[in-house]
Amino acid sequence: MSRSERRNDQPLPCHVAVIMDGNGRWAEARQLPRIAGHRSGAKRAEELIRFAGGELNLPYLTLFALSAENWRRPKSEVDFLIQLLDQFIAAKLEEFVASNVKFLVIGDISVFPASLQRTIEYAIASTAGNSGLVLSVALNYGGRQEIIRACCKVNAEITAGTIDPERLDMTTFRSYLYAPHIPDPELIIRTGGEQRVSNFLLWQLAYTELYFTETMWPDFTAKEFLQAISDFQTRQRRFGVTEEKT
Ligand code: FPP
Repeated sequence: MSRSERRNDQPLPCHVAVIMDGNGRWAEARQLPRIAGHRSGAKRAEELIRFAGGELNLPYLTLFALSAENWRRPKSEVDFLIQLLDQFIAAKLEEFVASNVKFLVIGDISVFPASLQRTIEYAIASTAGNSGLVLSVALNYGGRQEIIRACCKVNAEITAGTIDPERLDMTTFRSYLYAPHIPDPELIIRTGGEQRVSNFLLWQLAYTELYFTETMWPDFTAKEFLQAISDFQTRQRRFGVTEEKT
């Protein structure tokens, strides 16, 4: 389905965010170690990025790869995820450059080993001029943490006299979030059967349509991604306003 094709005459979403849940359970169901689930999950992320940026021509895709809370998992699993992320970003960079993907990270990366920070910064710098899919990967990310970080920055501006607190509005506040130029997601997909947002994009999800599926992330195909988009296209989005009465 290309962006020029329309299902139900409704537009495709411009920004889709995904909570990639269920890697561990996918592996456990196959008597495999949890890390095998993450490895398969990374393959699935790779396919979805290629599909979103290619055939679907989606402008923005955000993937929740590591939450601030995941950071407290057993050290062996966190170490594996860090290594997997480092390898993933380094291995995909050439393809991102060739396929015009702009790579971004949201979250506090200062806690990561220097090598992963370098890989991330190099990938961001190498794709900064790209104009295709904007791929944001959330790493050590928490929505509440992002809002508090923005509050601290706003507070510093107020103290410096560069923001008038009486005039603080949503547009100004948003400019202190991790990626202020990325529009709010229109659709969020969570795989793995849980129906919650788990501290993801709390500010940005105010009017986002939610799509939950039982499918574990390593089994989430491009076909099911399209099903989620078709479902989104059936939603009536009113943003708190009633439909016009004639
Ligand atoms: C949730 O599954 C998934 C994660 C914590 C890690 C997500 C990471 C990847 C998919 C690989 C890297 C991806 C990119 C984009 C670089 P879980 O372990 O919470 O599963 P469970 O709920 O079944 O235990």
